[in-house]
Amino acid sequence: LKTVDLKAPNWNFDVADLKAAITPKTKLLLLNSPNNPTGKVFKRDELLEIAKLAKEHNFYVMTDEVYEELVYPPARHMPFSTIPGMKERTILVSSTSKTFSMTGWKIGYALAPAALTKAIRIPHQFTTFCSATPLQYGMVHALRLSYDYYHVLREEYSERRTALYNLLIEHGFECKQPEGTYFIVANHKNLLDIPDTEFANWLIKEVGVACIPVSAFYENPEEKALESRYVRFGFCKDLQTIAAAAEKFKANLKPALAKAKK
Ligand SMILES: Cc1ncc(COP(=O)(O)O)c(C=O)c1O
Repeated sequence: LKTVDLKAPNWNFDVADLKAAITPKTKLLLLNSPNNPTGKVFKRDELLEIAKLAKEHNFYVMTDEVYEELVYPPARHMPFSTIPGMKERTILVSSTSKTFSMTGWKIGYALAPAALTKAIRIPHQFTTFCSATPLQYGMVHALRLSYDYYHVLREEYSERRTALYNLLIEHGFECKQPEGTYFIVANHKNLLDIPDTEFANWLIKEVGVACIPVSAFYENPEEKALESRYVRFGFCKDLQTIAAAAEKFKANLKPALAKAKK
């Protein structure tokens, strides 16, 4: 496995890095857009670059599109298979866990040309009876919901996104509103210039708000934590929970920072 970094603060990738990661043995590129943790939604010209390389080096592309419905205008999610010539090369994997708040149900689906689904269908026969039958019916019902559901979903998450973003900015984090997903990645160096893992532990204990160190998403998390000053907050919470976090920041952040800087 070779990874290609998305570079802060805009989380773009370097085409040269991607080219350098490709070898004659490369069979598959794994692409996650909209992206967890960064909230980045890959743009058409970035997808075209990847498509060009897929053709040139003859590899497949597996796209993890679980956040496909959680995209905030003007950003737009473009399924990789819609790029000309890519339908034959794409294995799309998605899930109902994010769009329908079914986290933990672990039911998803894959979409690929028939020749490729042959291999997928071999393990599939064993997984359908591992997932509880009522949950599978629940998922089918969810997939049949009308367009209104998706509209309301985005409206509600947009409101939560703004609430969390304002809260983080107000308390000294550096961040942007994400284009997609329900995460905000924030730089904490202006509060405490310590490794992201230490910061996440400190914030939970001293302020009472949970976040995830972004170094956990890298191949060598311990090494990355030394330089990373990014943590991920989630807004997959109701507005009251975000308001409760705001109260905790207001009451606890200043004294906790004063104690930490002593
Ligand atoms: C990018 C991405 N792919 C896949 C998953 C897993 O989805 P599921 O819970 O349906 O297995 C997650 C969940 O955190 C995710 O963030």
